Amino acid sequence: MRARVFPDYEAMSAAAADVVRRRLGERPSSVFMLPTGITPLGMYRRLVEMHRSEGLSFAEATFFNLDEYLGLAPDHGASYHVYMKENFYGLIDADPARVFVPDGAAPDPDAECERYEAAIRESGGIDVGVLGIGRNGHIGFNEPGSSFDSRTRVVALSESTRQVNAADFEADRAPEQAITVGMATIFESRKVLLLASGTNKAGAVAAAVEGDVSESVPASMLRSHPSAVLFLDEDAASDLGQGVAG
Ligand code: PGA
Repeated sequence: MRARVFPDYEAMSAAAADVVRRRLGERPSSVFMLPTGITPLGMYRRLVEMHRSEGLSFAEATFFNLDEYLGLAPDHGASYHVYMKENFYGLIDADPARVFVPDGAAPDPDAECERYEAAIRESGGIDVGVLGIGRNGHIGFNEPGSSFDSRTRVVALSESTRQVNAADFEADRAPEQAITVGMATIFESRKVLLLASGTNKAGAVAAAVEGDVSESVPASMLRSHPSAVLFLDEDAASDLGQGVAG
């Protein structure tokens, strides 16, 4: 797993958007897996800008989101459906038939997970998986302890994740469960790009890059991935030792 350190969030976001643009240039029908959260907003902003100013087209690409809260209808203001529509899919020329977000309101959540996993398989697999990282090292909603063999499934959110995300919900009550793409599914992405910004991610980044490869730090799984790269700003890299060059 390589790490690249950028001077700040804007530079990191620009580099991440360039990875997506390059991949689309090579193969317009590429399959992407995409994250939500605060970290990727700069990348989405740039990609939308490239669409508007250069005509960068996403019309042939396929998109899978990493996760969704369980129990939220797709039109719930805090759902990742709404987040993605407002920040990305609704602002570009994505083909709705090739945009996938887990349905948190599915009557049979386990069946929804199987359907989602099958859709990823049928798409030919993920070409580029873009990830954030939680302060506890989670990727998607794969919390510490998630098996590296896991597939798309219903998971319980950790108390720390619920606290970080509480502000998005009335009375600060974040849902207790979510659907997340599994660890093995993430690992099968042909390329993985993990984005981290800010000092509050520095501990998780250092544990993932320099600690033991362990299910207690989900992102550490990427150490054995043949093509995983971390894009960090200087703050997120601030707990790393000397071995990581910019
Ligand atoms: P953030 O979320 O980008 O909002 O920090 C990342 C994550 O929890 O995976």
